[in-house]
Amino acid sequence: MNIITVKDAQEGGKVAFELLAEKMATKIKTLGLATGSSPLGFYEAIRQSELDFSDMVSVNLDEYVGIDDQNEQSYAYFMQKELFDAKPFKVSYLPDGKADDLEAAAKAYDQIIAENPIDFQILGIGRNGHIGFNEPGTSFDETTHIVDLAPSTIEANSRFFDSIDEVPKQAMSMGIASIMASKTIVLMAFGAEKAEAIKQMIQGPVTESLPASVLQKHKDVIVIIDEAAGSKL
Ligand code: GLP
Repeated sequence: MNIITVKDAQEGGKVAFELLAEKMATKIKTLGLATGSSPLGFYEAIRQSELDFSDMVSVNLDEYVGIDDQNEQSYAYFMQKELFDAKPFKVSYLPDGKADDLEAAAKAYDQIIAENPIDFQILGIGRNGHIGFNEPGTSFDETTHIVDLAPSTIEANSRFFDSIDEVPKQAMSMGIASIMASKTIVLMAFGAEKAEAIKQMIQGPVTESLPASVLQKHKDVIVIIDEAAGSKL
């Protein structure tokens, strides 16, 4: 893993943006995108840039189950606001958390990923080391699936909702196998609450109890952190 330490989240977003701009010069086709607060500076840098995505495909990591894309807490809404309104793609995919048949929707999403191999995947990391919504204990072989969110994830994500009861208890997430198939992965983490997860991801054993540790086995991972997130390394 290549680790880059930056001053703060905004500078981290700019560094991630530069990495993307370099890759786009090599005519990549598909971006894997993430939500959460960690990539906000990255999306801001893209919005302010001249980059054009009208010929590209985006594939998002995850979506809550049971809320639709008009709900401000949905990841579809987040992506529209942070990126797609300003920078439309040829086509943008997110898991369909409102599907009647969630299993079929998960299979369909795997098909989409198979047809659009991800060139450049953006990741955040949960405090418990989750990537996407792949919680501790998820098999490294998993593809798109329905997840029961860990209590710590529900608690962490409740800051975006009026009350913890409104946080969806399930999500649909790209699996670890699909994330690992991405050619380049850029993971961003800022703040002391990520320090333990970052330490375990980089220096701990590769174990399904810390999903992000699987990235030690990937050939092209860039980790962008601030000093607080790197304080336990
Ligand atoms: C959520 C998302 C993840 C994200 C993580 C960290 O659970 N499903 O994709 O990486 O939270 O979020 P944040 O960047 O806001 O700390």
